Amino acid sequence: MAASGKFRVADDMEIIRRVLAHIEAGTTDEGEAWREPVQNYLHPSRFAKELRLLRCSPSVFIPSAAIPNPGDHVERISFGVPLFAVRGRDRQARVFRNACRHRAMALVAGAGCSRALVCRYHGWTYRLDGELAHIPHAGGFPDLDMSTRGLVEIASREVDGLVVIDPLDDHGTDSLPRVTDAARELTDGSPWADILVSAEHLVFVESIVQQMNWKILVEQFLEGYHIRSTHRDTFYPGQYDNLSIVETFGPNSRITFPYRNIERLRQRPTSTWTVGGRLTYVYHLFPNTIVATLPDRVAVIAIDPVGVDRSTVTTYVMTTPGLAERARQAAVNAVPYNHNASVSSVLHRGAVEDNEMSAGVQRGLRAGANAFVEFGRHESAIGHFHAVLEERLAQL
Ligand code: FES
Ligand SMILES: [Fe+2]
Repeated sequence: MAASGKFRVADDMEIIRRVLAHIEAGTTDEGEAWREPVQNYLHPSRFAKELRLLRCSPSVFIPSAAIPNPGDHVERISFGVPLFAVRGRDRQARVFRNACRHRAMALVAGAGCSRALVCRYHGWTYRLDGELAHIPHAGGFPDLDMSTRGLVEIASREVDGLVVIDPLDDHGTDSLPRVTDAARELTDGSPWADILVSAEHLVFVESIVQQMNWKILVEQFLEGYHIRSTHRDTFYPGQYDNLSIVETFGPNSRITFPYRNIERLRQRPTSTWTVGGRLTYVYHLFPNTIVATLPDRVAVIAIDPVGVDRSTVTTYVMTTPGLAERARQAAVNAVPYNHNASVSSVLHRGAVEDNEMSAGVQRGLRAGANAFVEFGRHESAIGHFHAVLEERLAQL
């Protein structure tokens, strides 16, 4: 757990120093190795237990940038539960269960902006704060008290560019985190605040169904051991193989992936050192959210478990004119990626490569060759993820 609400990750200067030392020595951060039973990826009963735990966990719902203006709303199915977020006239973001209080029709489909939330089925109308405002032909419901039939809200908190929600189910135990812990673990004093709050312009959203267990998709982001082998022509030309900084804070972690242009800093006074365009920070916010900083943008990725071998991956990409400009300038004297390709095309190809590997793992797990999946000391952020999951499942 993070002590007294403060995150214990190193500042940018310290990260640069540690990266340069690793480059010099040909080393990488190492932590605990981990063996995860293969059955934990394949067994429906294990998945059901995980889903129960996830519904008892606070989580990131959306980046604030997904609903910048009053009336903006967006739906998402979190841990199998249909929800939506809407920004009120008071600019507060609220999260509701996505069901009309008449006959449970899902009120919000996709993303949009409106002055009120009107159910398409029979026209029940809700204010942006969730209150039921109008029932057509209300005389047909003589016993209905409108003041008790507003939308059902999930407690949430918006800090540092993220909307974080309370557990969806009550777990009846005090040993698992509640919303105050959610605030501490996911938002309070967060080191990504600078990046995320300023990257307020949403430029891209995509939701893709993957036939994979959600944990394989999380693991995809948490190590740099595969950079040369998987990303030979995409990321490897501009990055290092198996060279990353791994930090954990509470149930979360941050992995730093440096770009080769970081070595130019050796010749420069430390007072001029910055990380912009010289590394990627990948934050894993337990259980299922990734925040990644890229040269000209920030990505928030939500990995939603749907079934034991089925997940929905939603990617939100944000930027600012300032970030884009900084990336352009960095590109003049440093090329973090190869082939003169645009950053976005390299990122796209890299993501395709990652998904090919994850699909291959999903297939291979069923081969019966392995009793467990082996994670090395240089893949310790993955071990941390599984250890936290295991510890919390034991508390259920
Ligand atoms: S289900 Fe929404 S108005 Fe009938
Ligand atoms: Fe990768």
